[in-house]
Amino acid sequence: MKIVLIGLCLAAGLVQIPAAPTNNPAPAEGVTVEPAATTPATAVETPAQRDARMAWWREAKFGLFLHWGVYSVPAGKYGNRTDYGEWIMNSARIPVAEYQAYARQFNPVKYDPALWAKTAKAAGMRYIVITAKHHEGFAMFPSAASKWNVVDATPYGKDLVGPLVTAAHAEGLHIGFYYSQSQDWNNPGGAKSGFKEGDGWDPAHKGDYDAYLNNVAVPQVRELLTTYPIDILWWDTPMYMTPERTARLANLVKLRPGLITNNRLGGGFGGDTATPEQFVPVTGYPGDWETCMTMNDHWGYNAWDQDWKSSTDLIHKLAEICSKGGNFLLNIGPTSAGEFPPASIARLHDIGQWLRVNGDSIYGTTRGPFPYLSWGVATRKGNLLYLHIFQWPKAGRLQVPLQNQVKSATLLAQPGSSLPVTSQDGQIILTLPAQAPDSTDSVIALEIVGQPVTAPLPSAGAHATASAWLPGSEPANAFDGTGEKRWRAPANVKSAWLEVDLGQPVAIGAFGLDEPDVWPRLHQHYTLEVAEGAGWRQIAAGKTQGHGVCQPLAPVTAQKFRLTMVCEQGSPGVAELQLYRAE
Ligand code: GLC
Repeated sequence: MKIVLIGLCLAAGLVQIPAAPTNNPAPAEGVTVEPAATTPATAVETPAQRDARMAWWREAKFGLFLHWGVYSVPAGKYGNRTDYGEWIMNSARIPVAEYQAYARQFNPVKYDPALWAKTAKAAGMRYIVITAKHHEGFAMFPSAASKWNVVDATPYGKDLVGPLVTAAHAEGLHIGFYYSQSQDWNNPGGAKSGFKEGDGWDPAHKGDYDAYLNNVAVPQVRELLTTYPIDILWWDTPMYMTPERTARLANLVKLRPGLITNNRLGGGFGGDTATPEQFVPVTGYPGDWETCMTMNDHWGYNAWDQDWKSSTDLIHKLAEICSKGGNFLLNIGPTSAGEFPPASIARLHDIGQWLRVNGDSIYGTTRGPFPYLSWGVATRKGNLLYLHIFQWPKAGRLQVPLQNQVKSATLLAQPGSSLPVTSQDGQIILTLPAQAPDSTDSVIALEIVGQPVTAPLPSAGAHATASAWLPGSEPANAFDGTGEKRWRAPANVKSAWLEVDLGQPVAIGAFGLDEPDVWPRLHQHYTLEVAEGAGWRQIAAGKTQGHGVCQPLAPVTAQKFRLTMVCEQGSPGVAELQLYRAE
């Protein structure tokens, strides 16, 4: 029963800084990411105006990310290595002239934007974000600001992004652009991760960062925002972005009223959406957020990468993200010929089929009321709770830790069906058919009376202590019910423990751990113990990737729990530790 959830949750966490992608040896130097919130451009908005601007995005839930550029020509291979992605130029330190030669082979004659938009629509996606310019600096649009663009540098010679905007709109989809504002590995002066400002691995890189901003980034963003009717601008890896430099770009945002931006511009510009990359935050985030994720291990096309996530895994991630109030931006790296890889198409097809039956449980939903469910996740739309059952109970009996009266329970796969509901010990019990209608995720719409009432989380607000902490990072922060504030040990401490007293013995069946949003990521060895007699007994142990952990436990009844964290780099920290009741 728990195996899927282990897999599902282990990838989860809380760090919001854009991660170094696969094969990028070092994180983008100087990267800082603002918490999504108010922006200079939107600060004058009333909350109601902001809600109106964000409405379509919050309803949409599911989008397609496209990483497409000149890097699709080497397709991941340089020298005898075949594990590069869109970072290939930087990771392999390819000289500018050599890299620019790839563009002469970039001729996507099979590119069919109408087909791409139709494929996204059929997959149930409601918006697209395409790389208008990635870190390689290559503009996928005609640009007067740099010759390093699709019209001037390729045999194809035509705009690539404009036709997709038109095609997306024809399908009723929203569309936005990713634009790498700081990093630019071809235009002189652009930031090069791993190098000092103005520097790079090729003498041709030498240049002034401000001149690059003024002569390339600012004019190109202006070109994009004045030429194309887009709804999203997706910034990335904010290197060297002082507030003054940021303002030059942030001021352009108002060129397109209604534009939604992410939190990666830097320099104090919060943007609208937080951007957890390649993971699902264990406790979600309070505001608008969007997990972006690859289907295999690369954003850009890699012909050798066959490490595909299964369709089941991707459907679970979509449901889990929605259950925590986020959006899912799922990536495809098209080939240099202009096609989606067949494995990506197959996954889109499966997700689309599932959404055709179960879309009501995704679109327009908000965070579900349960911090943890042993059998799946739940989303919500007013007084409708959508129970996503990943593990169909063998005995046909589903326990839902909810105290409300239930008006009806219907399987979305069997409209008109009505499942028997009883209640017992403050829980709702549903009687299910023997067979799951969908072995991936069968969804039940549960109509309840009033606001959802759940038992309080035993660890939230419980008495906490720790072996050490930094002023302002007290142990209680790790039990405040959200991942916003943290417990953190002082800088010189490598091993520290955090203890919680639940006030009385409680039967615990799982735990969730969010880690602080810091770079480099905290890779922490954790050990969870319970107080027994005069000592402690270990009940779980492992290592994090800086993205937190959520893990079922062999049920244990105890009052005091202790989490010991050992950090190889940085000092131990926990943004939130939650102990979930055994069912
Ligand atoms: C990162 C990477 C990049 C990828 C992106 C997606 O910051 O630098 O290659 O485009 O995140 O979120």
